[in-house]
Amino acid sequence: MKSPPVVAIVGATGAVGVEFLRIMTERHFTVADLRCYASARSAGKTVTYGNRSIPVQELTHNSFDGVDIAFFSAGSGISKKFAPVAVQAGAVVIDNSSAFRMDPTVPLVVPEINPQAIAGHAGIIANPNCSTIIGIVPLWPIHQVNRIVRLIAATYQAASGAGAAAMQELIASTQAHLEDRNYPPAVLPHPYAFNVFSHNSAVDAATGYNEEELKMLRETRKIFGDPDIRVSATCVRVPVLRAHCEALTIECSRPISPAEVRTLLSKAPGVKIVDDPGRNYFPMPRDASGQGDVLVGRIRQDMSDARGHSIAMFVAGDQLLKGAALNGLQIAELLVR
Ligand code: A2P
Repeated sequence: MKSPPVVAIVGATGAVGVEFLRIMTERHFTVADLRCYASARSAGKTVTYGNRSIPVQELTHNSFDGVDIAFFSAGSGISKKFAPVAVQAGAVVIDNSSAFRMDPTVPLVVPEINPQAIAGHAGIIANPNCSTIIGIVPLWPIHQVNRIVRLIAATYQAASGAGAAAMQELIASTQAHLEDRNYPPAVLPHPYAFNVFSHNSAVDAATGYNEEELKMLRETRKIFGDPDIRVSATCVRVPVLRAHCEALTIECSRPISPAEVRTLLSKAPGVKIVDDPGRNYFPMPRDASGQGDVLVGRIRQDMSDARGHSIAMFVAGDQLLKGAALNGLQIAELLVR
């Protein structure tokens, strides 16, 4: 990989694209040139990169000439159509969509867990689903010393996962609710203000699980390289802007104590323990927003497992950062180092 690389951001005007631009400067990721792409609607707009204003161009088949790394964050339809075009032009694609995640020839990478998988890429590297990343970063250090055989997860997912328009809908519908005005939902399927609803992905008729829940199962197996880990997730949207929370209960193959988990997580990369029962202070989306670490707390023995193999915990992570842009940029950092 050429260093510094020529970088393209596809979806530069979106919720994740804007974070890419911000953290590239914050993490001193040097580029030889930066090209920002979005739909024809955005042509002529500019985005901010450090103290520069970069023009947004319409994405076309000629957008990738001379590009070394292309970050895609414009949905799976755009990725399916344009990622092969970028690869053909010689770029490595880091794709934030679900388009290629389960393709056996595409590495699905969380740098704290399986950085070695990058070596096998054939042009596309997939960024996992945000709920998967935020849930499994703190589980990996445990899995390595005491295999997790089963994970039960319940998510509390922010608006950002559905994009900038959903974040706007949360703000506007909350204002409308407070002013006693009607606000028909346009982006998400249900009223968002002061409400909680099942994740807005399609429900699989055969299993009753929605797509987000099935992603957590399949992607965890692929990233951990463990096809036998059992996962059952319930994914829910909550009226929070940008950080996801998850209640996780794990069953390990041997007995495990909360103290062991704390010791393992206290030295784990990408994890910060926030666990203060005295003050009733635990991970919250407000604290997780804007930071790269996944916050972990409520670490306790699962009292429903008499064998002592199970631990319950509660985590919070920034969906736009570790759940998307930061994980993608960390992959790029591995490519250019
Ligand atoms: P645009 O702002 O021009 O619609 P989010 O996830 O926040 O909804 O952002 C989606 C991103 O994907 C935006 O940058 C959006 O650009 C971009 N996008 C949507 N449709 C296209 C398209 N047809 N070609 C290129 N970019 C697209």
